This record gives sequence, C-alpha cells and structure tokens, in this order.
Amino acid sequence: MNILGIETSCDETSAAVIKDGTFIITNIVSSQIKIHEKYGGIVPELASRHHLENINIVVEEALKGSGKIDAISVTSGPGLIGSLLIGTTTAQAISNILKIPCVGVNHIEGHIFANYLRTQEDKNTRTAVNPPFIALIVSGGHTDLILAEKLGKYKILGRTRDDAVGEVFDKIAKFLKLGYPGGPVIDRLAKKGNCKNIPLPRPYMRDTWDFSFSGLKTAVINYAREHKNIRTQERLYDLCASFQQACVDVLVEKTVSACKKYKINKIFLGGGVVSNSQLRADMTKKCKSEDIKLFLPVPSLCTDNAAMIASAGYFKIKKSGCGKMTKPSANLELKNW
Ligand code: KG4
Ligand code: ZN
Repeated sequence: MNILGIETSCDETSAAVIKDGTFIITNIVSSQIKIHEKYGGIVPELASRHHLENINIVVEEALKGSGKIDAISVTSGPGLIGSLLIGTTTAQAISNILKIPCVGVNHIEGHIFANYLRTQEDKNTRTAVNPPFIALIVSGGHTDLILAEKLGKYKILGRTRDDAVGEVFDKIAKFLKLGYPGGPVIDRLAKKGNCKNIPLPRPYMRDTWDFSFSGLKTAVINYAREHKNIRTQERLYDLCASFQQACVDVLVEKTVSACKKYKINKIFLGGGVVSNSQLRADMTKKCKSEDIKLFLPVPSLCTDNAAMIASAGYFKIKKSGCGKMTKPSANLELKNW
C-alpha cells in the first residue's frame, strides 16, 4: 500500500511516498530556513505564503516514479494554522480528484513513527518496534514524554510547562547572536567546549514528569550578561557545552526513569532536537547500561518531514480505517485510535 504524506505544520514544505508504512520511496523536504533566519525565528505569515508557493512543486516531485497512490496522510496539527491549512487543503483536493481516502494525523505522532522508517527494501533490516514504549518528542514546539501502551494508544506523562527544549536552543542562540536555528550551531560549538566549566541548574522537577526549561534559559542569558568575556571563543564554547549538557541530563534522566516506573524496556526518540549529538550519545550510553532498547531516527528524519506523517497515516488506516478527516487545529491533542 502506497501512502502520499504531506507535512506543512511549521516551516518545512514536505511530501513523501511510503510503501507499507515503513519503506521510503520518496521524501522531498523544502526548507524555509533561509527565509526566516534573518528574523531569528519563524514568521507565521511568511511560512504559509511560502508553503503555498512550494506545495505543488514538492508534491509533484514526491510523486515522480512513485507508482500508484492508495491513500493520503496529512498533518492536521499541532502547528501554525495558516501553514496547516495549505497542507490539509492540498491533501483533500488530491483525495477528491484521485478518489482515494485522506487521513489527518497528529504531528507528534508523526515524530514517533519516524522510527518505523527505512530507506532500503530489505526485510532483514525491518525494526521490531511494537509497543509498549516510552516516547520522548523534543522539537522547537514540543517537549512531550509519552507512554504508548499499544499502537495508537497514548498517555501523555509530561510536557514542558514553559519553553520547548528546541525553542530554548533557538532563543539562547538568538541572544548570543549565533544564528537560526540555534540547535545545530550550539551542538557544533559545544563540541569545542568543556561542559564542566560553567555550573548551570538541572531542572529535574522530581515530583512530576513535566519539564521546565525557561529557568535554565534565564540562567544562561544572565551568565552571558554578567561575564563580558563571553565573546571570547573558549568561554562561548564552554557556555554552549554546559547549557547543552544541562538539557541532555534532564531529558535522559526523566525518560529512563519513566521506563523504570512503567516497567517498559523501549524508548523511541523523535523531533528536531534528537539530531543533537550529545543527546544521542548520552541516551545511547544510558540505555545500554540499563538494558533498554533505544530507537532513534537518523538526523534527517528527526526534523520535520512527510515520510513520518505517511507512516503514521498508514498504521492508523490499517488499524481504524480513514474515518472522518481530522479538522486542522493549531493545538490538536494526541488522540487514541
Ligand atoms: O522537529 P523540528 O524540525 O520542528 C518542530 O516541530 O519544531 O525541530 C526543530 C527544532 C529547532 O528548535 C532546532 O533548533 C532543533 O530542532 N534542533 C536541534 C538540533 N538540530 C535541530 N537542537 C539541538 N541540537 C541539534 N543538533
Ligand atoms: Zn516537528
């Protein structure tokens, strides 16, 4: 079964064709980073205008040589409403013309399903990814810790009470004038620094599975304000490394604790922040020592893409059919199916 996936929830215009929920035939991603970087963040109105300009080109490219399409899966939310509408209207128009079903999926669910994707049609490499698992979705808009008991049955254990972790990387990079998006730059600079040189708080929030990163952000910004020598390279590298390590320590500790508490031995990571080299390394090490099986997508499938949306749609259709198309919504909650 071939699914056309469409993703336009934020600043990536993406379309993909996936076979049987796991094998990527095409996955086209048109990034708007160049457009938004001078503003240090996404400008929603610009994002939707550029989705409109790009969507047909991206979908046509994804469909080239992909064979017959059986259904469409599109991101219905959460995200920027103007951007979501470009994707959902396009999906519904194609669905009407080709007379094939169209299913709306949750963007967070898409990030989870990025772990089901592979690029080689080789049955031996098929990953055993059956629930139950604990998922940590960390991106520019989300920091969600999720318990998936069965496929499509989710319980949100905790989420951020203020800034998402990716948002904090972006805001700190903006303050330090390092460019946008902040995550990849801080990751790169942190490699040259020593994470032990600048003491920063770890917001573990021990009595809850929720997260909070705005206090850590303030601590980094205050440190930079108080230490004029922050512009010297070594100090800047140390600050990046220390901040990144504080985020990673909290994410690793809480995710592994959730596994222990719920007696689950699988972790799924997803979202742009999972590209972070320190998070990948520390989570891998910790899972190995705790005998937990870790699934993490390759970095190109951590950031927003339509292949993950097509995969989520495939499993949803297979289990529950297409049903009524989910209405696009900026704050769409993760629902069971
Ligand atoms: O999942 P994504 O592409 O879009 C959203 O749904 O938000 O994630 C984008 C976020 C940005 O905040 C970006 O700074 C962050 O992911 N990011 C990283 C890294 N690469 C991207 N954060 C930390 N380290 C990275 N290497
Ligand atoms: Zn995302």
